[in-house]
Amino acid sequence: MAHLILFPQAASAIIALPGETILAAALREGLAYPHGCQRGRCGSCKSRLLQGKVEMLAHSPFALEAPERNEGLVLACRAVPTSDVTVYWPDAVGALPPVLAIDAIVVARHEIAPQIQRLLVRPSQPLSFLPGQYVNITLPGGVTRSYSPASQPMAQDVEFHIRVVAGGQASSLVAELSIGDRIQLAGPFGDACFRGDQDRPLLALAASTGQAPIKSIVDGLLASGDQRAVRVFAFARETQHLYLDRYFAELAARHSNLGYRSIVTRAMHKDATPQTLIASCISQLRNWSVHIAGPAGFVTSMSEMVRGLGCDDILADRF
Ligand code: FES
Repeated sequence: MAHLILFPQAASAIIALPGETILAAALREGLAYPHGCQRGRCGSCKSRLLQGKVEMLAHSPFALEAPERNEGLVLACRAVPTSDVTVYWPDAVGALPPVLAIDAIVVARHEIAPQIQRLLVRPSQPLSFLPGQYVNITLPGGVTRSYSPASQPMAQDVEFHIRVVAGGQASSLVAELSIGDRIQLAGPFGDACFRGDQDRPLLALAASTGQAPIKSIVDGLLASGDQRAVRVFAFARETQHLYLDRYFAELAARHSNLGYRSIVTRAMHKDATPQTLIASCISQLRNWSVHIAGPAGFVTSMSEMVRGLGCDDILADRF
């Protein structure tokens, strides 16, 4: 049956339809509820259940740990009310840029690595976001997919790196885009974003098109003159998929606080692991911020690995 959801922060009350999650109901009603993956993986929608009961759908234990559940925290994207509920969402929502829906035209598109397209679009008004957030792109034909910009907020053009999957509906539409084609952007969304409000050194781990948000984060940090230590590790099975290798290497040559290392996993020594490679550069991560971007399996294994090196400040962007 339908249940009432009260949001004290927004002074609003909405109805959750039968079987609908708190997040789905909030987004349907147009609330700017903080969220990321919408699949119980990233923890961006972690909220406090002040009153009532929910059924929690399957989710990653990394997004919501058992002690947090016992404290009354829930993942709004996985929580289906089974009674009327009162929910308090994370305070960070106030710091996020507003969500906009805007038109954009394609100004460039080309392949930058096998199966990876670089798409440059010019929005009808500047798009504000925090590096690491994502934007929904609606392609001609009405197909919508989420991508994190590789460029800087408010830039004239927004740059995306899009993995093209054989037979994928969105992939074929992206591969057919021409200069001048119109698309729609909506966002930004997600709070797996870098705010830089803590003075901690930053470790960034990227795989596949996760290199895009890491580029945005690192470029923004360096352009601001921030002098904290930044270490970027890019992982790929084949050299050809390290499509920002030269870019990061040249950036590191110009900025003494940036270290960059690329790792081709297929060529790794049989005794080496990502953990041993990172640990050989950084002995412990207790006071570091870590940002991980890439496919879900990569993010999960890297999260475990950095926790093992003492890190408790992890932002994850998985897709
Ligand atoms: S865990 Fe809910 S949005 Fe990612």
